[in-house]
Amino acid sequence: MSNSRKILATSALPYANGSLHLGHLLEHIQTDIWVRFQRLSGHEAYYVCADDAHGTPIMLKAQQMGITPEEMVDQVQQEHMADFADFMIQFDNYHSTHSDENKELSQHIYNKLNEGGFIKSKVIEQLFDPEKEMFLPDRFVKGTCPKCKAVEQYGDSCDACGATYSPTELINPQSSVSGATPVLKESEHYFFQLPEFSDMLQTWLRSGALQEQMANKLQEWFTEGLQTWDISRDAPYFGFEIPGTENKFFYVWLDAPIGYMGSFKNLCDKSDINFDDFWALDSEAEVYHFIGKDIIYFHSLFWPAMLEGAGYRKPTAIHAHGFLTVNGTKMSKSKGTFIKARTYLDHLKPEYLRYYFAAKLTNRVDDLDLNLEDFSQRVNSDLVGKFVNIASRCAGFISKQFDGKLSSTVLDPALAQSFIDAGDSIANLYETREYGKAIREIMALADKANVFIADEAPWVLAKNEETVERAHQVCSLGINLFKILSVYLKPVLPELTAKVESFLNIELTWADHQVLLTDHSIEKFKPLMQRIEPKHIDAMVEASKEDLAKQQAELAPETELTKDPIRAEIEFDDFAKVDLRVALITKAEHVKGADKLLKLQLEIGGETRQVFAGIKSAYQPEDLEGKMTVMVANLKPRKMRFGMSEGMVLAAGPGGEDLWILNPEEGAQPGMRIK
Ligand code: MSP
Ligand code: ZN
Repeated sequence: MSNSRKILATSALPYANGSLHLGHLLEHIQTDIWVRFQRLSGHEAYYVCADDAHGTPIMLKAQQMGITPEEMVDQVQQEHMADFADFMIQFDNYHSTHSDENKELSQHIYNKLNEGGFIKSKVIEQLFDPEKEMFLPDRFVKGTCPKCKAVEQYGDSCDACGATYSPTELINPQSSVSGATPVLKESEHYFFQLPEFSDMLQTWLRSGALQEQMANKLQEWFTEGLQTWDISRDAPYFGFEIPGTENKFFYVWLDAPIGYMGSFKNLCDKSDINFDDFWALDSEAEVYHFIGKDIIYFHSLFWPAMLEGAGYRKPTAIHAHGFLTVNGTKMSKSKGTFIKARTYLDHLKPEYLRYYFAAKLTNRVDDLDLNLEDFSQRVNSDLVGKFVNIASRCAGFISKQFDGKLSSTVLDPALAQSFIDAGDSIANLYETREYGKAIREIMALADKANVFIADEAPWVLAKNEETVERAHQVCSLGINLFKILSVYLKPVLPELTAKVESFLNIELTWADHQVLLTDHSIEKFKPLMQRIEPKHIDAMVEASKEDLAKQQAELAPETELTKDPIRAEIEFDDFAKVDLRVALITKAEHVKGADKLLKLQLEIGGETRQVFAGIKSAYQPEDLEGKMTVMVANLKPRKMRFGMSEGMVLAAGPGGEDLWILNPEEGAQPGMRIK
């Protein structure tokens, strides 16, 4: 085809230390639909991905399991590949970042950057675990917040007050790996000079390579000024050694995006695709990265700058999507809505989810909710009730009364033409990732087809000698309309449309939406899709709760490693000084710029207090208003980044969404003392 495009698409590389969940699938289904659409349209489109195998968490997890990191990432990769295959994610290649291709490309890109003067080294001080003899990433140090004195906070930020700081500022820091007290140690690190690419990046991100929401978000970073980026880590580290150094490794996020190239290189080496056609500076191919909004920084700053600095082309565009929520909230392990890919597959058909995601996806970065009730209703009514119904109402007559052959003329050419004409608009919606709108158009056509059939009532026409030929024509047109809709749905529903293809004795490409079948033999109709039954959804939710229990049992050894810190004991007198009161939450609001905090107005018997509480992960403001809770009423007021906090709300639980504010018993009155 003369106007055929060369396209390479990727999804973000899942970490090789855990199972895939439905959030990952949102991304891969979005990408897969897009690539299938491109292939169906006759373009040369490739889709590659890989497991992201490197980094400290993966190294430590393997140690915990008593196997080598190589063994672990191999196992996980097998699991990921099986899950993706069962969701019909059609990669041209699935590789690992721990591969020869990736090592070679990473070292090559680093050398180029180094030669270009974009790498500078500097000695920095970092926390070091003297027992484990390793430097500690921020997330592996815990201690008391230097600002609000909350205990057991991570090395980069405080969950209680929202402060951010360096792990060296923590009070009583502790290594999560060994429990030892870390010491400060100097080490030479290598920094990528990102600020030198500032002008280039600003031009690039306004070139249409980013969605507007993302370009605006990135603009903030430019306003603050770009920082150099630490790309090295000291041994022990699971990764690639930096050329020309000893015991220094590439930080996982350096070789991760290069993993896109590595996987593609691996594909090129086993086929006749030319790597340079896609990655050389003068490449005319299109390169797209589909990613979640959380990793936009890496993909739209570091990655294009690395490519530019090393003499490669930059991506055509970054397509970011929002996060998946289930039943309106973040996926929750305890509610059974943290659903692993495999757990879903054990209970439900992959195409249900592909269809539901498609029906709700836009090209914006908004979050997408999987509402389990809406899910089954939508799939049952659209796919079974509308789409498949067209074929099942028409096919029987054709086989039984007309020898399995479609009529030689088209009954209502205008109706057929209106279905054909919709093709351009639907194609454009797929191209621009507005799948939800595409599905709406397709279902509106399905409604139209069903109305046509119901009005003609072929089951009545078929009973009468004089009208039986019209029944043949109605059903034949019905099958043709069904065929056109099957083309439109093929990127979303590959298995279902494969069944349609054998039923219609035809292979469907995008261009086939313009072809009407006459005098054509079809096969006997077999049921194409079953309805979703609520009991299957219930079973999946139950199984997800069991997954959690299993996982907690497996993680037990880790908690041993994380030893409880020894806390300073207090005297009873100190305890008695704490004034605990019942408080009525009269108002709760989000705090602009704070991820974890809510701003609460608390009423304690005629007095109102403003308190900031780090409970946003577990509660929406509207769920809190009108509730009673318990507060420390005589905590010295503290000035926080967002205003004064005049007390503290008490909560319990492991954290995250499993965090409960204390609710006093019924009959409690605001202001009442607790002890
Ligand atoms: N390994 C990195 C990506 C490196 S790409 C060069 C990573 N891995 S991840 O496993 O944490 O996430 C992989 C992808 O899944 C990311 O694009 C991430 O945004 C996406 N998602 C993870 N959880 C998600 C949801 N709950 N919802 C939607 N997408 C989510 O980041
Ligand atoms: Zn704090």
